[in-house]
Amino acid sequence: MNSDIGLIGLAVMGQNLALNIADHGFAITVYNRTTAKTDEFIAANRNTPGKLSGSKTVAEFAASLKRPRKAVILVKAGSATDAVIDELAKVFEPGDIIIDGGNALWTDTIRREKALKAKGLRFIGSGVSGGEEGARFGPSLMPGGDPAAWAELKPIWEAVASKVDATTGVERTGAKPGKPIQGGVPCVAYIGPDGAGHYVKMVHNGIEYGDMQMICEAYDLMRGLLGMTPDEVGAVFEEWNRGELNSFLIEITAKVLRQKDPETGAPLVDVILDTAGQKGTGKWTSANALDMGVAAPTIAEAVFARCLSAIKDERVAAAKSLRGPKPRITGKVDRAKVVAQIHDALYSAKICSYAQGFQLMREAQKEYNWKLNFGEIAQIWRGGCIIRASFLQKITEAFGKKPRLANLMLDPYFKKTMRKAQKNWRKVIGLAVKHGIPVPTLGSALAYFDSYRTERLPQNLLQGQRDFFGAHTYERTDKPRGEFFHIDWPNPKRPQIKA
Ligand code: 6PG
Repeated sequence: MNSDIGLIGLAVMGQNLALNIADHGFAITVYNRTTAKTDEFIAANRNTPGKLSGSKTVAEFAASLKRPRKAVILVKAGSATDAVIDELAKVFEPGDIIIDGGNALWTDTIRREKALKAKGLRFIGSGVSGGEEGARFGPSLMPGGDPAAWAELKPIWEAVASKVDATTGVERTGAKPGKPIQGGVPCVAYIGPDGAGHYVKMVHNGIEYGDMQMICEAYDLMRGLLGMTPDEVGAVFEEWNRGELNSFLIEITAKVLRQKDPETGAPLVDVILDTAGQKGTGKWTSANALDMGVAAPTIAEAVFARCLSAIKDERVAAAKSLRGPKPRITGKVDRAKVVAQIHDALYSAKICSYAQGFQLMREAQKEYNWKLNFGEIAQIWRGGCIIRASFLQKITEAFGKKPRLANLMLDPYFKKTMRKAQKNWRKVIGLAVKHGIPVPTLGSALAYFDSYRTERLPQNLLQGQRDFFGAHTYERTDKPRGEFFHIDWPNPKRPQIKA
């Protein structure tokens, strides 16, 4: 009974997180359903400076842990997680803590927490972001659940999380096996009770979907409108990564675009089939937005864009019969100018997409009775996670100054940025429409911006239509809100008040 923590699930994320934990001086026991995998992992990491051991059974695993026991589960979200929890619940004792680090649906986390609480066990649903590299050298961690259990886990989670500089928010990089980052502010914060951590991780992923799709549209515009090569577009992303768009996703985009196919020597991006996969977190975010009645069109469009990409055969057939304009701008074109316009479109749309994510979290906290700290959430996304970006420092500052900011777009910095950038953004959307290049996220973000800033939208007409065909009633501009009226449309008399 001497390990500080245990970990179940030795796929690549589990292996890397286990090594990260060991690197920080914690004794860790690992367990995997297939013992051979555990043995292989232990053998391969025999020389790790950390204290790493393996167990052959769940009972042996439980017996190896200090009390209250702490076990991190990193298995496929869904039924596999339930199966592991059931096994652990058989060997754990009251007060012990189970931590789910997978991409669980937050409502599953709420259910699991409740069921385990009834057995005296404590449960933490923790978002873990950063992919394989993040898990190994510093992920962004979003724990939710029992606060007392969090206090037990905190020293380990703070140690293994990514670190950023306290004032600039810049991530500290350069960790190596056995040599973790020292100092800095850890990218982890207690998010809230039950499913709060997994909810916030889900929104992180929804934002990730938006970011990735917006970048793809920017790339497509450069190729389509300007005929630029992948190398040339890659160089633009490298340049952008040195400015306000600086982020992990822009950095890796440049690398993807520069990569050549080892088989043909062609740009690898030209060899990769244009059909996107997805595991569901973007869909969950969008479905939840619809359920709560919160507008998150840019995130949803990013999911739909993947869906449309996936019907490749249908698109190939349609391309032969549905004609549109030529993508390339003809005649003399100032390439640098158009590229600068695309930059501004991307940055503005990104602000809108994040605004939607934060609006979602604002509504969810009412629904689930959480008290989310948006400044802190932005802060822990500054390093380690897939959406890490310089821009998150600005969001941290925005919510730091005004925790109840109604919409990110209203923060003075973002307001100014969008005021400056919107002319170029509109030009880009105009060019995309003119040349038939789809821009579902860049375009929907502009519609979101324009809708949000419009005092009188055409939904007055919509309410008229609803009342016409279904007596659904409407409110009046000259009467207090909450009073509903109806007229008999074929025989209009004075509007009748309806309850
Ligand atoms: C992260 C990522 C991670 C995973 C995505 C991929 O934060 O580290 O979000 O959780 O890579 O969920 O999602 P899709 O397969 O749906 O693109």
